[in-house]
Amino acid sequence: MRVLSGIQPSGSLHVGNFFGMMKSMIEWQAKSELYCFIVNLHALTTINDGPALAKNTLDAAMDFLALGLDPDRSLFWVQGDVPEHAELTWILHNFTSMGLLERSHSYKDKIARGLVPNHGLFAYPVLMAADILLYQADLVPVGQDQKQHLEITRDIAGTFNHLFGPTFTLPEAGVDESLATIPGTDGQKMSKSYNNAINIFAPKDELKKKVMSIVTDARAVEDLKDPDHCNLFAIARLFLKPEETAELKERYLKPGLKYGEVKKDLVEVIWNYFAPFRAVREDLGRRPDFVREVMREGARKASAKAQETLEVVRAKVGLNY
Ligand code: ADP
Ligand code: TRP
Repeated sequence: MRVLSGIQPSGSLHVGNFFGMMKSMIEWQAKSELYCFIVNLHALTTINDGPALAKNTLDAAMDFLALGLDPDRSLFWVQGDVPEHAELTWILHNFTSMGLLERSHSYKDKIARGLVPNHGLFAYPVLMAADILLYQADLVPVGQDQKQHLEITRDIAGTFNHLFGPTFTLPEAGVDESLATIPGTDGQKMSKSYNNAINIFAPKDELKKKVMSIVTDARAVEDLKDPDHCNLFAIARLFLKPEETAELKERYLKPGLKYGEVKKDLVEVIWNYFAPFRAVREDLGRRPDFVREVMREGARKASAKAQETLEVVRAKVGLNY
């Protein structure tokens, strides 16, 4: 089975990205043919600071490699290094109805948050469809918020297949319902853009500040607490073994639990959870040229695969003459 997903280099990667996407991607390596890439062309829809985008892209590559993505076993590249993504996008635009894009929740949410409604933002799902269809992916593991983009992808692929005969594989979205939306420190979806994210490789003082700022209810120490509606509990359980989660739950259901103590413990738990990867991340941070070369090699391999699909598509739509 071919599993594929991408992540935007729009800021430092956080715990929501890790549990919502990166961890499952890294696990897929052992049991599938994995395609993983950093979508810097998508990030252009919201970032117009060149040096920042370039830095975030390299950082995201280092983060993934440090967390265990193995470029010898999987395809791992930067989207903008493979021009076939942009070429297929243009072709697919012509098989994408306006209404389909106008119904995009993600577009409407971005506009509601005050982003400039430029064409890149509107066409975002078409570029994502090209990313997926170019490699004939079977399964795309993403967070809940990306499900509609997968529906749009299937719709575009269906239209094309209907007109030109079987061409694209219709991909399935792989959403792990148990961690569908990971909350941030304020209880909203954890996101780079809401300033509520706990970054994977944050220095310890920053990690501490973030964890201590997790919003909890105003129940007193002697009150019983409600683990099922507690943001702190929801974040903590991601890092705990099932028996540790059960233990913490019991503490919530008895008088005496102090949120401050749970938070202090959580700082250590998160720090230790990422410790084995932190050393590798620091080493890669000192070798940017090595990382660039790994990504260029990944792009060469991805481009060869992409060409296979693109050649068929070009011939079908009449670009080969
Ligand atoms: P952000 O909202 O921080 O900009 P992205 O939209 O770039 O994050 O998401 C990258 C990947 O991580 C996607 O697959 C997305 O679904 C997943 N993801 C991001 N935030 C969360 C979250 N809070 N919970 C679960 N998954 C998330
Ligand atoms: N839109 C996705 C996100 O913000 C990123 C993305 C771009 C993607 N292309 C993709 C995810 C292809 C999966 C497959 O999270």
